[in-house]
Amino acid sequence: MPQDTLTITDNRTGQTYTFPVENGTIRAMDLRKIKTGPEDFGLMTYDPAFMNTASCKSAITYIDGDKGILRYRGYPIEVLAEHCTYLEVAYLILFGELPTSAQLKDWVFDITHHTMLHETTKKFMEGFRYNAHPMVMLVSTVAALSNVYPDSKKIDDPATRLLQIKRLIGKTPSIAAMSYRHLGGFPYVYPDNDLTYTENFMNMLWRMVEPKYVANPVISRALDILFILHADHEQNCSTNAMRAVGSSHTDPYLATSAAAAALSGPLHGGANEEVLKMLHEIGSKENVAAYVKKIKEGKGKLMGFGHRVYKNYDPRAKIIKRVADEVFAVTGKNPLIDIALELERIALQDDYFVSRKLYPNVDFYSGIIYEAMKFPIDMFPVLFAIGRTPGWLAQWQEMLLDKEQRIARPRQIFFGPSKRDYVPIEKRS
Ligand SMILES: CC(C)(COP(=O)(O)OP(=O)(O)OC[C@H]1O[C@@H](n2cnc3c(N)ncnc32)[C@H](O)[C@@H]1OP(=O)(O)O)[C@@H](O)C(=O)NCCC(=O)NCCS
Repeated sequence: MPQDTLTITDNRTGQTYTFPVENGTIRAMDLRKIKTGPEDFGLMTYDPAFMNTASCKSAITYIDGDKGILRYRGYPIEVLAEHCTYLEVAYLILFGELPTSAQLKDWVFDITHHTMLHETTKKFMEGFRYNAHPMVMLVSTVAALSNVYPDSKKIDDPATRLLQIKRLIGKTPSIAAMSYRHLGGFPYVYPDNDLTYTENFMNMLWRMVEPKYVANPVISRALDILFILHADHEQNCSTNAMRAVGSSHTDPYLATSAAAAALSGPLHGGANEEVLKMLHEIGSKENVAAYVKKIKEGKGKLMGFGHRVYKNYDPRAKIIKRVADEVFAVTGKNPLIDIALELERIALQDDYFVSRKLYPNVDFYSGIIYEAMKFPIDMFPVLFAIGRTPGWLAQWQEMLLDKEQRIARPRQIFFGPSKRDYVPIEKRS
């Protein structure tokens, strides 16, 4: 018997089956061969929330959740956050290699020259209510770009795909900044091609009457690092949405909009928003112990703690903690950091959190930095979406080029009633 195999005996029939084991997995479709008779559909696996199912093969991001390792295309996140710009990392994620200087120059030029939004898109955004949630504006406006760029339907053409990828990476910050200005009631600011990606984002967010916006280099680098940390995270909820929606061969704007919608939930990209609400609710360091006690009694969750994959310290949270100090040197300290540090200290000594391997995740500290930069809480998931856009697009393209992938369509175990007779309304009790 070859070693890399799994032998299963079906006790219902006494039959034995042997299946290959490849990369620590068996093919779920092999299980279909296990049948009790010719009428039997075959064995399936039941895996709500994909707890133990690999939905794809991917060469983009590697995570070892037990060791707290995150790598994009083989490069540790710590190294990328230290040495690269966000657009350099976006290139790496999309093309698999770090760019040469000439490639980077062209890439930055191309992204920079796709930051403008069509005037009708601007008008579309102006139609939102004065207090519209910026994440809702982002989700809807990215979807609306599908109308502006009907060529995006040609998903089989590599050049067309690349053009949409550049447009999406270029335009997401413009949409995000416009949604921010909308919230504040300020006129929209057009992109400035003299600035870097992040400086230009800051220009579109914060420029008032000055003729030329000058970005604070510490803040622009901090945002760049935050975008790098969010750029990809393998098969998370929003990436799974991107792949699933993209698998129906819809265009990348609609698929990205679906991914952003998935990101907006409080258990995913909305978590940093929840962290801030929680820290404000706790109010001061002295109240931390009582709050932790409440959580242990089952009254809510410690937001920004725990992760489906990381059962160790989230490596991104470590980097963010360092960035926080640099940002506070410019903005002044956000007092919430003291509450957060105390919360982390108490939780990491407590058996409840230790035994469940609950550590701070990326969202635990990112919100505190964003707040120090004067972003309203509603903008937090939008900032996450800007960073994650290259990851979504790389995963989307990888899915399209994967010959094994087809339209994503899980199975179910039907639990409803069997066939019933129709009862006319006057006879129903
Ligand atoms: C991220 C998250 C959704 C992962 O969920 P998951 O992998 O399904 O983990 P589970 O919900 O099965 O949690 C396992 C156990 O830890 C507990 N737990 C998980 N996260 C917790 C938290 N943040 N605070 C308190 N307890 C938590 C669960 O209640 C469960 O306890 P039990 O075994 O006694 O029932 C979850 O940890 C969470 O909701 N965290 C807070 C939200 C957050 O920060 N999200 C951002 C993710 S980047």
